[in-house]
Amino acid sequence: MNTEVFNAKTQKENGTQYAGRVIRAGGLVAFPTETVYGLGANGLDGEAVARIFEAKGRPQDNPLILHVAKKSDVKDLWRHVPDGAKRLMDAFWPGPLTLIFVKSDIVPEEVTAGLDTVAVRMPEHKTALALIRAAGVPIAAPSANLSGRPSPTTAEHVLQDMDGRIDVVLDGGACEVGVESTVLTLVGRPTILRPGGITREMLEQVIGPVEVSPAVLRPLKEGEVAASPGMKHRHYAPDAEVIVAVGNPRKIASIICREYEIEEAMGKNCVVLGTEQTRSCYHGMNCDIIGDREEPGSLCRELFAALRRWSGRVDVIFAEGVEEADQGLAYMNRLLRAAGFTVLDE
Ligand code: TXA
Ligand code: MG
Repeated sequence: MNTEVFNAKTQKENGTQYAGRVIRAGGLVAFPTETVYGLGANGLDGEAVARIFEAKGRPQDNPLILHVAKKSDVKDLWRHVPDGAKRLMDAFWPGPLTLIFVKSDIVPEEVTAGLDTVAVRMPEHKTALALIRAAGVPIAAPSANLSGRPSPTTAEHVLQDMDGRIDVVLDGGACEVGVESTVLTLVGRPTILRPGGITREMLEQVIGPVEVSPAVLRPLKEGEVAASPGMKHRHYAPDAEVIVAVGNPRKIASIICREYEIEEAMGKNCVVLGTEQTRSCYHGMNCDIIGDREEPGSLCRELFAALRRWSGRVDVIFAEGVEEADQGLAYMNRLLRAAGFTVLDE
């Protein structure tokens, strides 16, 4: 298959219109959102949705998010729209918040992997919204990476994984948030299944207490059932070992310096994903400053790009843990998974 690439800015009209027709015809289109690039298909067409799983090598039991261009579209996709959802949609849509509720009959089982609930979000990105409108249907879209790899935040990342496997890529430049949307289920007590750009603190201001699924920051225990099937699969792994150091910044830097030296002495190539605060600690070492510890959103924006940048180029990637609050929770959730939960704390 030949993958066609359109620049979403210079080829705006014909690119999105063409891509909308491809979606309607059952094809696959990668498109930018404010979080990461999505791999879209007609969300009401089970066969088209099945092609997403094939192109990504995605486990069949991991359900997809339906993307809509206006809030009222959820009425068709859910059995009804609960009050809490209305308030959250008013506060945060369009934006990086995915809401889960009981599905309606028109949602194919390929989207929900057989569950009776469906995840829906309205992205905040002009190209994504224009594509959904051009397609005229909700677009089912996971992140546009091969299953298990870091999510793509540029069109180049999408092509690294998907060239020749999908019909179209709309290139809209780098994604702003850099990690995937917050996933919140409204079935039972509101619970965050995956943290993201819309934080627990922000959600609680609108609907009161919100729980965080225990699987957000630790691996599932043997026999434990995942609230969100996506949490049980290996994720975000670059082709290198990832090691996370935690503690205060000084302690983190000293752990990393010590371990870096040990790995190097064994002949391994290493890189440190450092921060503004620890920049001076890694003198003479291979260091890539990815953001500011005081602004965890800046770390979120760069994490996946940094993992891809060093994938296959070094043996070990050292990264710094941050406090698991605000956007730091999303950062730690992705980082710990990329590291297979390998953590050093002394
Ligand atoms: O920001 C995002 O959410 C991006 C962009 C493209 O919109 N999409 C994305 O999709 O990250 P994906 O498929 O990589 O992640 C969807 C997550 C998975 O962890 C999946 O298990 C969970 O949402 N999920 C989807 N439907 C669900 C449901 N009905 N119940 C529980 N979890 C669900
Ligand atoms: Mg994904």
